Parts: sequence; C-alpha cells; structure tokens
Amino acid sequence: MRIWPTNPFENVLLTRGEGCRVWDEDGNAYLDLLAGCWCTVLGHGHPRLTEAVREQTTELIHAGPPFLSDRIHQATGKLAEILPPALDRAVFLNTGSEAVELALKMARAATGADAIVAIARSYYGATTYALSLSEAGRAVGWLPPVGSAVRIPAPDCRNCPAGENWPCNEFPCLDPLRELAERKDRTVAAVIFEPVLANAGVIVPPIGYGSRLRALAAELDALFIAEEVTTGMGRTGRWFGFDHEEIVPDIVVIGKAIGAGFPVAAVVTTAEVEARCAGGLTHVQSHQNDPFSGRLAATVVSILQEEGLVERAASAGDYLLSGLKALQSRQTCIAEVRGRGLMVGIELQPAWSSRGTTVAQRLLQSGFIVNYQPHNTAFRLLPPYVISTPQMDEFLEAFETVLSSLSE
Ligand SMILES: Cc1ncc(COP(=O)(O)O)c(C=O)c1O
Repeated sequence: MRIWPTNPFENVLLTRGEGCRVWDEDGNAYLDLLAGCWCTVLGHGHPRLTEAVREQTTELIHAGPPFLSDRIHQATGKLAEILPPALDRAVFLNTGSEAVELALKMARAATGADAIVAIARSYYGATTYALSLSEAGRAVGWLPPVGSAVRIPAPDCRNCPAGENWPCNEFPCLDPLRELAERKDRTVAAVIFEPVLANAGVIVPPIGYGSRLRALAAELDALFIAEEVTTGMGRTGRWFGFDHEEIVPDIVVIGKAIGAGFPVAAVVTTAEVEARCAGGLTHVQSHQNDPFSGRLAATVVSILQEEGLVERAASAGDYLLSGLKALQSRQTCIAEVRGRGLMVGIELQPAWSSRGTTVAQRLLQSGFIVNYQPHNTAFRLLPPYVISTPQMDEFLEAFETVLSSLSE
C-alpha cells in the first residue's frame, strides 16, 4: 500500500523534530518556518507539552460524547482567561475544518437564515460546507455549494479595485455588503471573517476593517464569526486576530495552535447564540470534548501565558518583518513584505512569479521549509513562536543568497 497523493509531497522523508527544526532520514536538518501546517507553535518536543501528553494518555484519553471530564472543564477555564467574557460556551473538536462547519451550523440554527458572507480568496477548510465557501472550493466542479454564499472582495489594499490609497478609511471592498444591508432583500446567517487572510498570500486588512465588517453583520442581523484557525492563539502577536480591534464576535473558531501539533480545535460562542439555537442544533462527533483535547488545550494556553509566547510572536514578527524589509531594499524582485505577528507574506514582482517555486525548492535543499503560492506570487512564513533571533537571521541570509543567485 502507498499514500494516495491527494496533495503534492516534497521528496523528503522526515524522521524527527526538536524545537524549530526537523530532520530527514539522511540526518539533514531543516528549519521549519511553517510550524508544520502552522500548528507546532511551541516547536517540537516542548517538555511541558510532552509530559502532559504522557500523563494524560495514562489518565484518560477519550470519554465518549455523553461524558464530560475535569480536563475539559480546565480547558474551558483557560479559554475564558483569554477570550472576552461574553464568549462562554465552548465545544472542543479536532480540526479547523470541523470547527468551521459547526460554527456555520450554529449560525444557521440560531438565525434561521441560510446565506453566509465570505471573503473572496479565503480558505475555510476541507469539509464540504467550509470548502464550498472557500476560493479553493469554487474550482471543484463536482462539489455542490451548501446553502447560499455572498462573496465580497478581499481587503487587498495593494490591489484595491477602487484605487484607494493606503491606509484606507472607506473600505470600498465592503460596498457590496453595504448595498446588501441597505436592500435587506436577503437573510444572512453569518459573516465569516479571517482577521489576516492566510490563503490569499497573507493579506493583512488595515485596522478598522474588522470593526466595519462587524457593524455591517449587525445591520444584516447576521452573526459575526471570527475564523481564527490560523490567526488565533497568538499567531498575530495578540491572543486572537480580532483583538487588534475592539470586536467581540458572536462565534470564534479556533484550530491549529491550540493543539500545538495535536489535532485540537474549538468553537466558542455566547449564551445568547446557544439560546437561539435551542432545539435546533445537535452535533455529535466521536472525539468531541475528549479529555485528551482538553488537557492539550489547557496546557498550550498555560505554556503560551507563562512563557510570554504571544508577546514573543509579536516581537519575533517585528524582527522578521524588519529583516525582510531590509532585504526588500536590496532585492528588487520583492514587491511587498507584509504581516502581523508571526504571520508573514513576501510577494514577488510579477516577472518572478515562475521563479518563486525554484526559490522555495532551493531553500528546502539548503535546509529551510517555506511555502510559496504561485497564484499569489507570495511566500508564506508562519514559524513556531519559539523561533530564535539567530534562526531568523539564518533564514534571512539563506533567502538573500537564493534570491541573489537567481537574479544573476
Ligand atoms: C484559515 C483556515 N481555516 C480553516 C482551515 C482548516 O483547518 P484544518 O486543516 O485543521 O481542518 C485552515 C487550514 O489551513 C485555515 O488556514
């Protein structure tokens, strides 16, 4: 038997990891600037996480949907420390996709409406509903859309269709939603908002965009879902992407970082949303609210708090961004460097679009794992929060060497 390549694989066989590095079967080391799939925010082998896993596998891994555990209560307690007080109803799941799916179901059950407002070029997950709202899903001809979707343009200020200057105050990209709110001829269940658009080559909306979107959701009587699968748990230098503005969402979707490499996700909402769903929503999954997930989530929040890693994501992000901006001043192939916290995008000039893949391959051969999206002409860097300054310098130097070698 072999693995069916439902996605392309690198020709590297990984055998172990430590901190921000992983090693292949031949002993070659790689600095992982992606934290796997943006998940291993504590790096590999964090001693407290490893110990919690060891203990919990002995204590109790799985209980079954009808049973709660002390561990799941501890996890809700830890989430309450980092979320606005109104958000006090949680469900723990395993993946971001599942959590998005549940959030969408909640919104439809609570409002009785079926349309979802989604931002173009976003990715919300691989399950049917999440994928049908995603840009990636639109290319899948055999996948029927689930319910109706209203797509609004991405807040991509560099390529603003209205030609607004940065920083923008008017957000013409929200005009379709303003018109919808004025007409009120469609019932909308939710507006789903990813505070930094990971899939669109790390688009960072200006501060103010999220609040404006939240206000429009309220005008539409729709729920506001903060889709924090990638941006949540410190990635942007604050606990959540919405924390950069004064927003309290109706539903928050959390994934990736909350498990630090293990599959843990959560949907958190308000008592009001729960009450509005009364009698209309049942959701049961094998690993829902597992004690093991609870232990992991509580441990990850504690480690992030006690080791100051959210602040570390902010300062490391600043360092990486300023290093890349310095590089941009020397390497004219870089069109833009952007990011918030440790969520960084590097866009190449259009003439370099086909060379980006070669850059990523050469970096891999030199021991650096990055992601390049040819359709956005952009690299994405989402390293573990524990990445050190010398490791970032190592990458900056290697990146410059590769860019220079291809410029000649
Ligand atoms: C913004 C966003 N939402 C949802 C998902 C889906 O999460 P998962 O792959 O854990 O199902 C992803 C995955 O990359 C993501 O980036």
